[in-house]
Amino acid sequence: MSAADKPQKDENVVWHKHAVDKAFRSEQKSQHSALLWFTGLSGSGKSTVAGALENRLAELGHHTYLLDGDNVRHGLCRDLGFSDHDRRENIRRVGEVAKLMTDAGLIVLSAFISPFREERQLVRELLPEGEFIEVFVDTPLDVCESRDPKGLYKKARAGEIKAFTGISSAYEAPESPEISLKTDQYAVDDLVEQCIQTLKQSGVIA
Ligand code: ADX
Repeated sequence: MSAADKPQKDENVVWHKHAVDKAFRSEQKSQHSALLWFTGLSGSGKSTVAGALENRLAELGHHTYLLDGDNVRHGLCRDLGFSDHDRRENIRRVGEVAKLMTDAGLIVLSAFISPFREERQLVRELLPEGEFIEVFVDTPLDVCESRDPKGLYKKARAGEIKAFTGISSAYEAPESPEISLKTDQYAVDDLVEQCIQTLKQSGVIA
């Protein structure tokens, strides 16, 4: 490795502040940047509710981006599996990408199991106070398992998938999420409305 190829030391990498900044970009879009972090078991309804909320926000003229676990694992995180270490790295990368997207002035929605409290807390700390909105998709395991949209619970019970969340790998439920959604009690439209109300109360949208 030549000297030029070596990773630069921190003191030689200086943050460059650009004139077009986060405040400008979000004002241009008539919104405040935010990250709605959907967490919950596989099959809990994270992607479904996040997708429906993104549709609603688009109808209202807002600028959004949805980061989805299953999709991100085809590209940015294709080298990662489901060990605790890899799940942590998955969430770390997604957190950094989501941070860049909030810097672009967007309302970002993310749908990842993100089973560990510590990693969700690290993402929260990447953002200014109030911009991280934790959305707990609070669907009981037995309901997720009876839905089993991808047949993965069946395989996990049969031992064909190792370290499956809720069966053979832990899920740490949020202790004080900004939003808690009961997908077994409310229709998707109602859950979307619950999110919209919180976004209005917190000034993300008018
Ligand atoms: S996370 O734990 O790292 O946050 P992520 O949300 O990216 O997980 O991916 C979860 C999706 O991967 C699930 O919805 C499911 O379709 C699939 N999957 C495959 N293997 C597993 C596993 N062992 N545990 C959980 N989900 C799995």
